[in-house]
Amino acid sequence: MPAPSLRALPRPGAQQLAHPGLLPAQPPAQARPFVKWAGGKRRLIDELLEGAPAGFRRYHEPFVGGGALFFALAGRFVRPGAWASLSDVNIRLVRTWRAVQNDVEGLILRLKDYAEAHDEEQFYAVRAIDVDKFDDDTDVAAWFIYLNKTAYNGLYRVNRSGGFNVPLGRYADPQICDAEGLRVASRALAGAHIEHAPFDSVLDRALPGDFVYFDPPYVPVSHTADFTSYTADGFSMADQARLRDVAAALKDRGVHVLLSNSDTATVRELYQGSFHHRTVLCGRAINSRASSRGRVAELLIS
Ligand SMILES: C[S@@+](CC[C@H](N)C(=O)[O-])C[C@H]1O[C@@H](n2cnc3c(N)ncnc32)[C@H](O)[C@@H]1O
Repeated sequence: MPAPSLRALPRPGAQQLAHPGLLPAQPPAQARPFVKWAGGKRRLIDELLEGAPAGFRRYHEPFVGGGALFFALAGRFVRPGAWASLSDVNIRLVRTWRAVQNDVEGLILRLKDYAEAHDEEQFYAVRAIDVDKFDDDTDVAAWFIYLNKTAYNGLYRVNRSGGFNVPLGRYADPQICDAEGLRVASRALAGAHIEHAPFDSVLDRALPGDFVYFDPPYVPVSHTADFTSYTADGFSMADQARLRDVAAALKDRGVHVLLSNSDTATVRELYQGSFHHRTVLCGRAINSRASSRGRVAELLIS
């Protein structure tokens, strides 16, 4: 059965919304990302919502990370879940999304245990676990979220063999278990399609009238600002070119495409021709050099 159109009538007061074609939310609490994620888009949300189409059929986020735009959009729909298809190549992250969706109470119990016993010794013991051996997504999610909330700067970094290698962060009282936040996120995810897949798999799913938001690892502004190793494999310039081809194919198909990347000559050149560019300024949250924490220009491409 085709998914119903998400174009909805504006309700009274909707003209004040940045995004007037969508029904404003009823839920008491706005769902938010349950992990801190490098390149997370919470600071750019208003600009992204402005760049989103007023109405669309299904939403796809093939580099979902923490899913900031997914949650922002989720707050604007009355119906949760089934309108969204989320994917990423980080299998541990994807299993975490699935556990939040399918077993949020089990996850909360495990995180409460981790929170009660949290100290340096536990952090390094949990970090050393061979998490890919867990059969249960909930165990993976507890491992993932615990380390995300306690590791230095909320970074996710692995060595060549996939071992998590970020040291303990300097948090006096990290919020390891945000039970209510997880429950709200779980409700927003009810019915969503969550997949472990490379970005180009969106070509198999997106139909005319759908909306795809691509937030890839960025083309580095300079060599030292390189932050492309989200996985052991990284994201090469060949991947960037393939992404451009996928975005162009989707546009030809009648899919609404929005893409963010660094505002660099390389990116502008890649997306010449039928793409529109808009420069926006964003304060980066995760950057190892304190002097680079200012506002950085990013490019929104559609
Ligand atoms: C900039 S982050 C996305 C951040 C996200 N928009 C947010 O709000 O948190 C990029 C994501 O792309 C994922 N990724 C890297 N290479 C990929 C690939 N080839 N296909 C799909 N996802 C990939 C990484 O695991 C990471 O989660």
